[in-house]
Amino acid sequence: MQTAHEFFIHELNEILDVEQRLVEALGELEAQSTRPELKKAFAAHRQQTEKHEERVRQIFEELEETPEQTECKGIKGLIEEAHAFMEETPSEDLLDVFNIGAASKSESYEICAYKSLVQLATDMGHRKAVQLLKQNLREEEQTLKKMETFSKKIKPEQSGMEEEEKQPARRRTRRSKAA
Ligand SMILES: [Fe+2]
Repeated sequence: MQTAHEFFIHELNEILDVEQRLVEALGELEAQSTRPELKKAFAAHRQQTEKHEERVRQIFEELEETPEQTECKGIKGLIEEAHAFMEETPSEDLLDVFNIGAASKSESYEICAYKSLVQLATDMGHRKAVQLLKQNLREEEQTLKKMETFSKKIKPEQSGMEEEEKQPARRRTRRSKAA
């Protein structure tokens, strides 16, 4: 690889692989989650991810390039991490909490990837690509915010977080006495 164009195409192939893998992974998250609002969010997110894939394909068309099958090791690792967690036979309650975290991690990964792509496309003067990439970036950022709202609301049943938030010092003392 020698040119900026080749590098841009490489990075586009990577993000295309990310989106494709996430369409499948979000289907799994939807099926595994027990809280209806979470199921709904993952289903919506899956549909949005299909749109992201389409937009990336549109960029390839704009550039008169053909996508090539690539394996994005970063997102593959995050998906493997989620599969490994399933082997710990988590309770339904904990699985919901884990899934929110897993989705947030993948969103953060995508946000960084899209920011780099937007910069590259801007530098190279690919205006249509910049527009499409920014659309995806904006939606990823919105989804991450949604996940952050969920993680404030959905907590492990026995975490005792609410009490701890109110009286952190007293609670900690009580715990150390018990131990
Ligand atoms: Fe996406």
